[in-house]
Amino acid sequence: MTLLEVLNSATEYLARCGVENPRLNSEHLLAHVLRKKRLDLYLEFDRTLQEAERLPLRDLVRQRGKRIPLQHLLGTVEFYGRSFVCDSRALIPRPETEQLLELALSHLPSDQMISLLDIGTGSGIIAATLALELPHACVDATDLSPEALMLASENIAKHGLSQRVRIQQADLFPPAGKNPYQAIVANLPYIPSQEIEALSPEVQYDPIEALDGGADGLDLFRRFIQCAPDYLRLGGQIWLEIGHQQGNTLFNLLIDRGFCEVSLFKDYQNRPRFITAKK
Ligand SMILES: C[S@@+](CC[C@H](N)C(=O)[O-])C[C@H]1O[C@@H](n2cnc3c(N)ncnc32)[C@H](O)[C@@H]1O
Repeated sequence: MTLLEVLNSATEYLARCGVENPRLNSEHLLAHVLRKKRLDLYLEFDRTLQEAERLPLRDLVRQRGKRIPLQHLLGTVEFYGRSFVCDSRALIPRPETEQLLELALSHLPSDQMISLLDIGTGSGIIAATLALELPHACVDATDLSPEALMLASENIAKHGLSQRVRIQQADLFPPAGKNPYQAIVANLPYIPSQEIEALSPEVQYDPIEALDGGADGLDLFRRFIQCAPDYLRLGGQIWLEIGHQQGNTLFNLLIDRGFCEVSLFKDYQNRPRFITAKK
């Protein structure tokens, strides 16, 4: 079979299994097996694929058909233009979180020494991106999950950031005393417990503690909002990713806690998905 025929057959199989974007998934898997850039496949459509090349692809396509996430099969994910290790130890980074970073970064100085905090760091992508985009920043990153912290450490080391990103196990805030952070950026679990089961099969491969936000999805936010002012310097800002129906409730909680300049921001689908506030 030619490369194009193999791609077509994998695409049909994945479509039958209910995988979204089956063609794109097939291209990523084939590029991974052939160790090529995805777009370079287009130059080789007529090349005959050897059995030795088709075998590993068949295995990966079968696993993808079982709805194992593409990123787990590839072992990496692109985030903010960089590659990160990705596996079942932490949430697969989502494109919306790139928008959270864009928002936070547009309000942070890149030429000053600042101290930042990423709570619920998961794979470490927020902490790493902050440190890479802000070369004078020091970033603390916390997570409750030891597995996630291991993955985050690997990603921090992969990007040469071990000197500027400190990873700690903590229930929300770091244990080593209160620090005057300039900003806290966090993507906390916000899905109401009851809704998790109905999410796509791929999402079920994310660790439950990365998704489950309690009965209304806001358990961690309530605790976070209560304590956050103690960890922020005056004028310090929080940047949070939130569920699209949680904006109003969180807005009021932040005002009640004494935050000012509270604002909601929409994602590319025009849904309020980010909130910021200042101490
Ligand atoms: C939605 S995931 C976000 C992961 C990563 N920051 C990202 O954006 O891809 C939430 C993370 O919060 C962590 N987490 C859950 N409860 C926590 C707690 N009480 N304290 C610290 N981290 C917690 C989970 O382990 C998970 O890694």
